[in-house]
Amino acid sequence: MFRSELGLGFLVISFCLSFCLTVESKCSKGCDLALGSYYVWNGSNLTFIANVTNGSINDIMSYNQIANADSVLSGTRINVPFSCECINGEFLGHVFQYSVISGDTYQKVANTYYANLTTETWLQKFNVYDPSRIPDTAQLNVTVNCSCGNSSVSKAYGLFITYPLRLGQSLQSIATETNLTADLIRSYNPNANFSSGSDLVYIPGKDKNGKYPSLNSRAELSVPPDEGLFLSMLLKLMNAKKTLEIGVFTGYSLLTTALALPHDGQIVAIDPNREAFEVGLPFIHKAGVEHKINFIESDAISVLNEMLSDEGKLKMEFDFVFVDADKPNYINYHEQAIKLVKVGGVIAYDNTLWYGSVVSNEEEVPERLRASQKPIIELNKYLASDPRIEIAQISIVAIDPNREAFEVGLPFIQKAGVEHKINFIESDAISVLNEMLSDEGKLKMEFDFVFVDADKPNYINYHEQAIKLVKVGGVIAYDNTLWYGSVVSNEEEVPERLRASQKPIIELNKYLASDPRIEIAQISIGDGVTLCRRVL
Ligand SMILES: *[C@@H]1O[C@H](CO)[C@@H](O)[C@H](O)[C@H]1NC(C)=O
Ligand SMILES: *[C@@H]1O[C@H](CO)[C@@H](O)[C@H](O)[C@H]1NC(C)=O
Ligand SMILES: *[C@@H]1O[C@H](CO)[C@@H](O)[C@H](O)[C@H]1NC(C)=O
Ligand SMILES: *[C@@H]1O[C@H](CO)[C@@H](O)[C@H](O)[C@H]1NC(C)=O
Ligand SMILES: *[C@@H]1O[C@H](CO)[C@@H](O)[C@H](O)[C@H]1NC(C)=O
Ligand SMILES: *[C@@H]1O[C@H](CO)[C@@H](O)[C@H](O)[C@H]1NC(C)=O
Ligand SMILES: *[C@@H]1O[C@H](CO)[C@@H](O)[C@H](O)[C@H]1NC(C)=O
Ligand SMILES: *[C@@H]1O[C@H](CO)[C@@H](O)[C@H](O)[C@H]1NC(C)=O
Ligand SMILES: *[C@@H]1O[C@H](CO)[C@@H](O)[C@H](O)[C@H]1NC(C)=O
Ligand SMILES: *[C@@H]1O[C@H](CO)[C@@H](O)[C@H](O)[C@H]1NC(C)=O
Repeated sequence: MFRSELGLGFLVISFCLSFCLTVESKCSKGCDLALGSYYVWNGSNLTFIANVTNGSINDIMSYNQIANADSVLSGTRINVPFSCECINGEFLGHVFQYSVISGDTYQKVANTYYANLTTETWLQKFNVYDPSRIPDTAQLNVTVNCSCGNSSVSKAYGLFITYPLRLGQSLQSIATETNLTADLIRSYNPNANFSSGSDLVYIPGKDKNGKYPSLNSRAELSVPPDEGLFLSMLLKLMNAKKTLEIGVFTGYSLLTTALALPHDGQIVAIDPNREAFEVGLPFIHKAGVEHKINFIESDAISVLNEMLSDEGKLKMEFDFVFVDADKPNYINYHEQAIKLVKVGGVIAYDNTLWYGSVVSNEEEVPERLRASQKPIIELNKYLASDPRIEIAQISIVAIDPNREAFEVGLPFIQKAGVEHKINFIESDAISVLNEMLSDEGKLKMEFDFVFVDADKPNYINYHEQAIKLVKVGGVIAYDNTLWYGSVVSNEEEVPERLRASQKPIIELNKYLASDPRIEIAQISIGDGVTLCRRVL
């Protein structure tokens, strides 16, 4: 059950808490594509580079702006494509096969032929030959590290260049060269010394179309449904008409927003990657809300800057801004968004508790979360001290017979200092709700929002109670109302583990549909969510 505090000027969404922490493992799978930055040394040429990287010249050319294969300049870098595998379950890499030429040493192979994409030590590790006795006919394993991205840092980037640093380079020079922010590059390489002249770093790369492809891992797709719900309601309750979305990914939150806005609502959505947005597009089509969406494929900073320019300014003023993009840029987005949202409007930042890590010591934080921990903490501090805004965190009243599950997250909640907002009642909900509905209880409790995700057979009972506890204009949300699609299946077709709840869910749906006290909206995302707004 959620009790929301609406009507404030500003909102930080802090879903997930620690419940989403997963066990850290080394790699489990790689990705189809990674790039290596090959420094073209004097005397090398594309033919040679294609040979040692087992690629075709044309393929290499398609990842670079090379007009003429014969005129690759020494002293420049070119990106070479290869697949990135999880090697021995230990790390992400690719093993090239190199045919030895008489006189080769591990050092020469690493520093010259493979342009420092690997090291002498690394060659020794993966080849059986004694460094002083490499047979002339040998095939060497040349292992090059790679990256498939890091959703903890940003979901907008899914292709990475393995980039050997050279003397004279720095974080800033690389940022300038690539047009990415230094903060973003740093967060993908938290421990690298960019001035070392030799470290390997990972930098977001562009695909054949010259675009940054996003992370396409389905598991990490989107905003959790309960958060989408909350957003949707929030938008309805504040009568939002014009919204801005920074970071779209697959468009789940975009769809949620589009559904929540009135017919003449407008959403400007910005993401450097259109491909990912297109994954969600069929749903947006089906929902018939495409006309509300203006998708801009670009990095957000420059689009926002344009909006803030003299001409843009007049046209753009938003009721609501949702930010779910690269964490290192959150503060930059904030500075822009604050000027684009109207006074009284709301900016929502996703992931602001960062899986609970904002209150942990760095060492306790799983590695995959670390890169964004700092930017998020900094954002939180920044927001807390920004006089232009008011911040609200969502307070929760949770009722669940299993206190243990709740306690998993409790340390994080305590550390976050929001414990006082949560009144966890370990009990079956029916009796607690009955008590709330008793004469005394009634006076104290009136909710703006009730969220039900509990035992399905009792949904109708919960409904009868919840309807009395939510104020008119408030919302009750039921989770899982499509029950994995089974609500439209015959009983025999339904997998056994789903069967017990199939009927109660169908009955609930019918019940809600004929209840005159509410208006309902069923959203067919994930497993179905039904929103009921109390009208009587
Ligand atoms: C490349 O090497 C050739 C001789 O091997 C030399 O004449 C030329 O100046 C070198 N070019 C550069 C840019 O170092
Ligand atoms: C390409 O580079 C290799 C290795 O340095 C060299 O053996 C070969 O002659 C070069 N080919 C051309 C066409 O320059
Ligand atoms: C690279 O060149 C060597 C020597 O010319 C040859 O044996 C090998 O097959 C070539 N490899 C590829 C992938 O073209
Ligand atoms: C080289 O590429 C070919 C096809 O492009 C592939 O079949 C082969 O396995 C590759 N060899 C290595 C050592 O990766
Ligand atoms: C590789 O690194 C060594 C040592 O830093 C440097 O001398 C050499 O020029 C580098 N090779 C290439 C191709 O960049
Ligand atoms: C590749 O990565 C592993 C582990 O992440 C690291 O130990 C190794 O030094 C890296 N290799 C090179 C050549 O940078
Ligand atoms: C290359 O790696 C494979 C697999 O680990 C190994 O069997 C093979 O002996 C290695 N080659 C050399 C030359 O060490
Ligand atoms: C960097 O971005 C600016 C503005 O977004 C653009 O004008 C410029 O062409 C970009 N440069 C590169 C190298 O992509
Ligand atoms: C980074 O590398 C440079 C060059 O080796 C060295 O001077 C500097 O101290 C290093 N910085 C850090 C923080 O280790
Ligand atoms: C994600 O980023 C953090 C910090 O840079 C790093 O420690 C972690 O290994 C990364 N995860 C993956 C899967 O690359």
